[in-house]
Amino acid sequence: MKHIRKAVFPVAGLGTRMLPAAKTVAKEMLTVVDRPLIHYVVAEARAAGIEHFIFVTGRGKGAIEDYFDHHVELEETLKTKGKTGLLNDMLADLPKEGEISYVRQMNPHGLGHAVWCARDIVGDEPFAVILPDMIMDAEPGCTAQMLAAYEQTGGSNIIVVEPCPPGMAHQYGIVALEQQSGRLNKMTGMVEKPPAGTEPSNLFISGRYVLNPEIFAILADKERGAGNEIQLTDAMHKLMKTQAFHALEYDGTTYDCGDKLGWLRANVALALKRDDIKGVRAMIEGLLG
Ligand code: G1P
Repeated sequence: MKHIRKAVFPVAGLGTRMLPAAKTVAKEMLTVVDRPLIHYVVAEARAAGIEHFIFVTGRGKGAIEDYFDHHVELEETLKTKGKTGLLNDMLADLPKEGEISYVRQMNPHGLGHAVWCARDIVGDEPFAVILPDMIMDAEPGCTAQMLAAYEQTGGSNIIVVEPCPPGMAHQYGIVALEQQSGRLNKMTGMVEKPPAGTEPSNLFISGRYVLNPEIFAILADKERGAGNEIQLTDAMHKLMKTQAFHALEYDGTTYDCGDKLGWLRANVALALKRDDIKGVRAMIEGLLG
């Protein structure tokens, strides 16, 4: 069983649910409290021991590259002003040189296509996929829990799932389980965006995966599925004919920042948890009258 060293972050999406901001601000750069969404998921991956971060980017996403780079003028200014705490935090959060790769998804053909674009950088080893829309608040982090499940199952593909809010199954990938006992269960199937009433369970794929590299050969067929896109779920379903898949219900709270309400919820919830930002509760109570 190989160690998981690399994580793929698909960040090419247009973010139409976050317009008008997403017209010029990459949706992954929208802030939750005081840091961009992408910061949370990269921190989660680093805490799990991921050593290489692969961003599948697109047009207008250059700010993500700048965010994970030195800002010499800013660093000098913080140093001169003696703001060493801020400076050290900023530097500590930065992946080291050579730990990040960027590859461009030149056409919006779907999540499966985005992951396939990373094939040469991933190479012939198992890897994680992390969807940045989802902030997973957990200790240990969701990626760490997922990598532990990968080891526990002796190298099975792992998909993180959670109970689907009522009436929402048609918006997600939904998994089918052999039987449900505990948090880690062998899967028997999965379907992307099932029509209402046809979903095989109430567990949806929530944005974290460990996949074996054989997925790339299947994605290379570029078969289209739901929404006429190349779906990662369809490729995983095919891989399941020859490899085991387990669904993990991780222990933590998910904030889906892919739409406005979810993003606001994340801001409020995570601000309430911050010791260094005082008065959030009073501010909310004040607003509610
Ligand atoms: C993608 C996946 C889907 C998953 C969802 C989680 O869908 O294809 O299986 O449930 O992310 O957010 P998308 O949000 O790109 O439609």
